[in-house]
Formats: sequence, C-alpha cells, structure tokens
Amino acid sequence: MKTVTTLAELRSARAALPGPLGFVPTMGYLHAGHISLVELAKQQCKSVVVSIFVNPAQFGPNEDLSAYPRDIPRDLQMLQDAGVDLVWLPTPETMYPPGFQTWIDLEEITQPLEGGMRPGHFRGVATVVAKLFNAVGPDKAYFGQKDAQQVAVIKRMVLDLNFPLEIIVGPTQREADGLALSSRNKYLSEAERAAAPVLHRALLAAQAAYAAGERGGAALRALMQSAIEHEPLARVQYVSCADLLTLHELDTITNGALLSMAVYFGKTRLIDNLILD
Ligand code: PAJ
Repeated sequence: MKTVTTLAELRSARAALPGPLGFVPTMGYLHAGHISLVELAKQQCKSVVVSIFVNPAQFGPNEDLSAYPRDIPRDLQMLQDAGVDLVWLPTPETMYPPGFQTWIDLEEITQPLEGGMRPGHFRGVATVVAKLFNAVGPDKAYFGQKDAQQVAVIKRMVLDLNFPLEIIVGPTQREADGLALSSRNKYLSEAERAAAPVLHRALLAAQAAYAAGERGGAALRALMQSAIEHEPLARVQYVSCADLLTLHELDTITNGALLSMAVYFGKTRLIDNLILD
C-alpha cells in the first residue's frame, strides 16, 4: 500500500494503478462501516484508492472540527489489512489554497433535513468531493447509506456536472444492538451509548407500521418521535418521512420513503435512516 500527500505524488501513483479504479473518500478514524465500502470496492474494481481528509468546510462554526477524532497510524493499518492500493492524505492547503473562492452549491436537495440543520454543510461536502473526484479520477466512488442525504447530493452533483464515474452505495453497518457505526459514537458516555440504539428501534417500529399498512407520513413521524422520547437521554432534533428523490416531507407514501432522524445525546448528535420501498 502506498501513502501519498501531494497532488503530484497522487497523480503519478494513480497513473500506475490498473483500472477499473474504485475510490472511497473518508474523514478517517475508520471503522467497519468505512471498511465495508473498501471491501465493496475491492470486489468491483482492480485498484482501490482511499482518501483521508477532515474537511473543515463541511463543519459549522459550533461543530466538532477541532475535536473530530483522528488516528492516522491506526487508519493506515486498517486500510493496509483491507488490501487498499493507495491512500491519499491531502493537506488543507492543497484542498483550500490561499484565496480559495470556488464552491459547489446544490439547490433544493440541500435545503431539508441535514442541510436545514447544518447550513453550509453540503456546500463543503460537494466542493471537497468534487475536488477529490477531479484529483483521483475514479471509475466508481463508494458512499454509505448511513449518510442518505449526502448520497442524494453527490448523485445529483455527478449528474449535473457530468462526472464520468458511477456512485455505488453500501448498506449501513451497525453494532449488534443496532447502533449505526459512526466516528462520533466515541463521544457517547456509557449511559448514552446504552441509550443510542433507540434510533434504530424507532426506525424499525416505523418500518413495522408501514409493513402493516400505515401510509401516513405524519403517523410514521409521530411514531418515531414517541419511540425516541421514551429514552430520557435522547433529544430529538428532527424525524422525517420524506420522498426518496426530492427529500420533501410526505403526507402519504405512494412510492417508497426515506425515514431519517437526528438525535442528540448530550452534545453528541447522531443520525440514522432507513428506506421504505
Ligand atoms: P466519513 O464520515 O468519514 O464517512 C466516509 C464514508 O463512510 C461515507 O460515505 C459514509 O456514509 C460512510 N459510512 C459512515 N458510517 C457508515 C456506516 N455505519 N455504514 C456504512 N457506511 C458508513 O462522509 C464523510 O466522511 C465525508 O462527508 C466525505 C464524503 C469524506 C467528504 O468529506
């Protein structure tokens, strides 16, 4: 496995890799969710490139940029064990050269859900992912369903800007008790960690109601809300039952739906989602 930092090193290492090339962008502090995307890429591609870059532009002023967990030696070991060919660790100066002023802003799709709660977040995500795509030039790029709106935004951007690559989405990886794996789980106290599987339980309760015939968006949102409120350590930021393409809230489900939520445990904000089809 080769590790590179500069764009020049990346370009020459990338040119030597046989295609098709799979690419997994990450912010590091890797877990089995990230590695599942690497494994999917290994199955589908001859070479796999991973980037690790904690992207300042996607963090809000009151978010956890400086506290975001980092452990590059451990990440590199995990990527080596997973059979990755090339790891790119760009510097902030490479991604945001002095005087930087070129941003990628998507419109409606970034307004609801995470975009509504985290103004500017998807501007930062879309911009950095476009730059990573430009530099790496992958045939396929891998993203996790865990970040459902991120997937929708990146797919839209790839269509709109004619990126010559395919977006592949991997399923959300979970702990045995249902908690979706996330680098942020490490912030949870023991009691909060024990309470956190309530997100998945709420999603499953709504899924069961849907399977039993419930088609009302408001009813499913209320069901998820009350399931989470049962847990005293949890504070709901939003629950949503939205159209799979537009992400607008649904009154009635006719063509599937994205159930999603953001919930605080103390200062830690967790998200989760599930697709009804
Ligand atoms: P990061 O949070 O490090 O996640 C990297 C990739 O891993 C994303 O595609 C994310 O959806 C996926 N992932 C995270 N947890 C997962 C889980 N439990 N199961 C499956 N996949 C999971 O998402 C980002 O970084 C950044 O926004 C990035 C795309 C790198 C742009 O900076």
